[in-house]
Amino acid sequence: MDQAMAVDENVRDRAQELKRIAGIAAADALVSSNMRIGMGTGSTARYAIHRIAERIATGELSNIAAVASSSQAAEECYAVGLSVLSLEDPRIAGELDLVIDGADEVDTAGRVTKGGGAALLREKVMAYAASRVAIVVTRDKHVADLGLTFPVPVEVVPFAAFPVRLSLERYGFSVSVRSGTGKMGPVITDNGNVILDVLFDGPQDVALLESEIAEIPGVVEVGLFTRRTFDFFTVEPNGTISSP
Ligand code: 5RP
Repeated sequence: MDQAMAVDENVRDRAQELKRIAGIAAADALVSSNMRIGMGTGSTARYAIHRIAERIATGELSNIAAVASSSQAAEECYAVGLSVLSLEDPRIAGELDLVIDGADEVDTAGRVTKGGGAALLREKVMAYAASRVAIVVTRDKHVADLGLTFPVPVEVVPFAAFPVRLSLERYGFSVSVRSGTGKMGPVITDNGNVILDVLFDGPQDVALLESEIAEIPGVVEVGLFTRRTFDFFTVEPNGTISSP
């Protein structure tokens, strides 16, 4: 292995370690027995799922009822022996005590962009069904303004993709249809829709945009979360947790 590759791997390992610290911190601080928990999607939230399973295995936690925000989150749950329930299940009855999820960007007002894993619709449904939502992120996810570096995902029914794209371009935004990897053509979400990734042309009134974009016919959900309050578990480069 040459030196550059070794350095790359060290950086990757460190990045994973920081995500693990954030996931564990939230799972240790906020999860107690008898909770109904929404399991988030992504490479940070997965560590919370694993930690919850570890705490169940040691007998520290019992009677945890899990709902998954995506097929990936469900797979993570199954891999560690956690069953996944629907929001209709009588043990859940449409409400969650806690969600632990990741985010793609967090602004200075604590508003977030989600949907890097194309799970924004179920993530938003769960966030609004929950009494408390913990967001687990590394410090680099904190930005001054949303949507300038990491695009804001918009989930759209396939029939409406073209006109919705035009509507978003009329704002002056750059819009691209998210493509799959390992598959030709667009990403198809867990709900059978496509994703338009939208980069803003400058700082925006993101609360207003969340409403306006959601009102475009054919839009199912937008990955801006501006109205929910969150408990942030931000891991610093030195491994300490700060909030936010
Ligand atoms: C998936 C999400 C994820 O929570 C978000 O993309 C962050 O993922 P990661 O922790 O892997 O950076 O919103 O739709």
